[in-house]
Amino acid sequence: MANQDGVVVSVLTQTKQQESPSAIDRLLTQTHADMARVNTLILERANSHVDMVPELARYLIDSGGKRLRPMLTVAAAALFGSGKGHAINFAAAVEFMHNATLLHDDVVDESDMRRGKPAARMIWGNQASVLVGDFLLGQAFMMMVETRDIEALGVLAAAAAAMAEGEVFQLAKTGDLATSAEDYAEVIRAKTATLFQAACEVGAMAGEADEAGRTALRAYGLELGNAFQLVDDVLDYRGETGTIGKNRGDDLREGKMTLPVILALAEGNEAEQKIITSALGDAEASDEQVRAVVTIMERYNTLGRTMDKAHFHARAAADALSPLPQSALRDLLADVVEFSVSRAY
Ligand code: IPE
Ligand code: IPE
Ligand code: MG
Ligand code: MG
Repeated sequence: MANQDGVVVSVLTQTKQQESPSAIDRLLTQTHADMARVNTLILERANSHVDMVPELARYLIDSGGKRLRPMLTVAAAALFGSGKGHAINFAAAVEFMHNATLLHDDVVDESDMRRGKPAARMIWGNQASVLVGDFLLGQAFMMMVETRDIEALGVLAAAAAAMAEGEVFQLAKTGDLATSAEDYAEVIRAKTATLFQAACEVGAMAGEADEAGRTALRAYGLELGNAFQLVDDVLDYRGETGTIGKNRGDDLREGKMTLPVILALAEGNEAEQKIITSALGDAEASDEQVRAVVTIMERYNTLGRTMDKAHFHARAAADALSPLPQSALRDLLADVVEFSVSRAY
């Protein structure tokens, strides 16, 4: 959720005013000044003389999003020091990479909704979405190059390649009933966790962290990203469309082989497998069909076990920070892990 300046404001405080601020709200407060600069840069670099570019890009940017990855970048930098001030450029680049992949992802997944609004492709079409995604990716790399930090550029370029590879691997596995839990782990690591990892690593680099600091933040980001995608895949079955800002049941209708469905297929009886396979990959599958699949998932606790796995990765993320000297910011980053697993959006 963003205010008029495009600055992300708390979503949680609207519903949980009486409770002490959550980790994500504390992260928002902690990174507020840096994130205001990141947002200015984001809006500036979304500009183009070709009107459709800023129109489409701003539509997505202004619809908010959690801005979790760039917040992690600036917080990771602040953990070590201000360095040469590269964190703002890196954070904006990371968010552009994320937004570019969302534009592309919604085309590939044929998703209609994003961030609670019609996906950009529903307004400007698939072609414009792909091309503006490419524009954002190009702008992301320009911002990195401006820092002249070739090593950080390498980290983010490797992440961009790995993410695309992960999406292609996932595409290749669409509707493939032989997809294993290991295949799924590889998909989520590549398509999602690598960007969290890179966001945290380049943050540490911007703060001129030593090797141990950089390694800790890399591991933290990777595990946080794994937990984040596992929860995303649970929310696709369990979440409320109005809260997650995407259509519930889309993964099933797209034939996406996520862990809850892989486990249900492996453990369900023949009749249950049939219920699942008749809805899997059917864009027209009804809400009742989705509900029937969720019932099977609940029977075998496959959503619960996917959450257990998310908790396992979340703990690993928090543990990765423990070698670092104790500080309020380190503890805050460890607490943010909790958000990645308890989030409803
Ligand atoms: C969505 O990421 C894509 C996934 C990796 C699951 P976010 O849930 O961080 O998306 P926004 O930026 O907040 O909309
Ligand atoms: C994550 O996968 C997308 C990217 C890494 C770009 P999903 O396809 O599950 O993400 P959502 O659910 O569309 O946000
Ligand atoms: Mg998608
Ligand atoms: Mg999803």
